[in-house]
Amino acid sequence: MAPIRAVKDYLKGQLCVTLPVSTRKWTGQTIIVTGSNVGMGLEAARHFVLHDAAKVIIACRSQEKGLAAIADIEATTKRTGVAEFWELDLCYYQSVEAFARRTLALPRIDVIIANAGVLRDSFEMAEDNESHITVNVVSHMLLALLVLPKLRETAIVTGKPSVLTFTGSFTHFMTEFPERNATNIFEGLNVEEGARMKSSERYFVSKLIQLQIMREFAKQLTASEPKKPGKVITSIINPGFVNTQIMRHAGAMMELYMKLLRVTMSRTADEGGRTLVHGAEGGEETHGQYLGDCKVADPSDYVKSEEGRQVQAKLWRELMVKLEKIHPGVTQNL
Ligand SMILES: NC(=O)c1ccc[n+]([C@@H]2O[C@H](COP(=O)([O-])OP(=O)(O)OC[C@H]3O[C@@H](n4cnc5c(N)ncnc54)[C@H](OP(=O)(O)O)[C@@H]3O)[C@@H](O)[C@H]2O)c1
Repeated sequence: MAPIRAVKDYLKGQLCVTLPVSTRKWTGQTIIVTGSNVGMGLEAARHFVLHDAAKVIIACRSQEKGLAAIADIEATTKRTGVAEFWELDLCYYQSVEAFARRTLALPRIDVIIANAGVLRDSFEMAEDNESHITVNVVSHMLLALLVLPKLRETAIVTGKPSVLTFTGSFTHFMTEFPERNATNIFEGLNVEEGARMKSSERYFVSKLIQLQIMREFAKQLTASEPKKPGKVITSIINPGFVNTQIMRHAGAMMELYMKLLRVTMSRTADEGGRTLVHGAEGGEETHGQYLGDCKVADPSDYVKSEEGRQVQAKLWRELMVKLEKIHPGVTQNL
């Protein structure tokens, strides 16, 4: 159960806040949005095309879905040749590495929105982790570290910070995260027994870990700034509860429950997309922050606690070992 403070903030955001529509121009910029074939990623990508971005990379795992998304964006914005499909399947590290290699040929990357995410009711492995952990956490961090030099390079050339923002979730409030007590947390998450898939808690756990890792990533970026010029701002967005396809693998009971909530208080994908655009704007005040309702917000008490800070550091150490095994040398990019 989420604490009362979180429930109040959530209800206020869903029912009383009108999210701003950004009027900022993205002229000349190259923007990557993962998971942008549908949902709020698609709406954010549409926004960037409409508002003059030079290149918007639709990073998704199906060419057919990617091209359909581009046709839709072009029909609504009347701008052609801006959105491009690039294949990225976050279930496979090789796909992430191939995607990152391709970005080396780009003259610049101004913004990455690490938005793709999975929620399912069954325990499935993808690479060396349960699939929520691979898709929502590890693969996006592998991508982040692989493209970091390009983000820094772009920041030097443009004279303003590049942005790497993640789509997180208010559901990070909704788990006790018992796996944090395991000797090795990532290994603990690979134990199927007790993984709490049917209640969607594994998804909540993945979003909590994503938030904690982003906070440590931000610290590391700030620490390396004097040695490695080119500022990169990182943050994590809570888009609220948005009417998208995210629940499609959640199981019948959860889908029924969500249907009710959706009717009463969900945001549209366009409204959710506005929160992604806000994250992409990357104001200095957003660095290392959890964002909600298009402003800096307050994460859970656990995240801010001494224990939360210790677990955050442990998660980071474990992740670095994992990423080095996947792609030796990648942590040197920090
Ligand atoms: N909707 C909400 O209420 C809500 C609330 C909080 C946070 N979020 C987060 O918002 C983000 C966007 O989700 P959404 O709500 O817009 O849902 P969505 O419409 O289901 O979009 C999810 C996107 O992630 C992609 N994806 C999933 N697994 C992938 C993989 N292995 N490799 C590459 N792409 C993959 C999907 O691609 P396919 O179409 O190929 O599956 C899709 O493009 C997610 O991170 C989600 O956790 C959503």
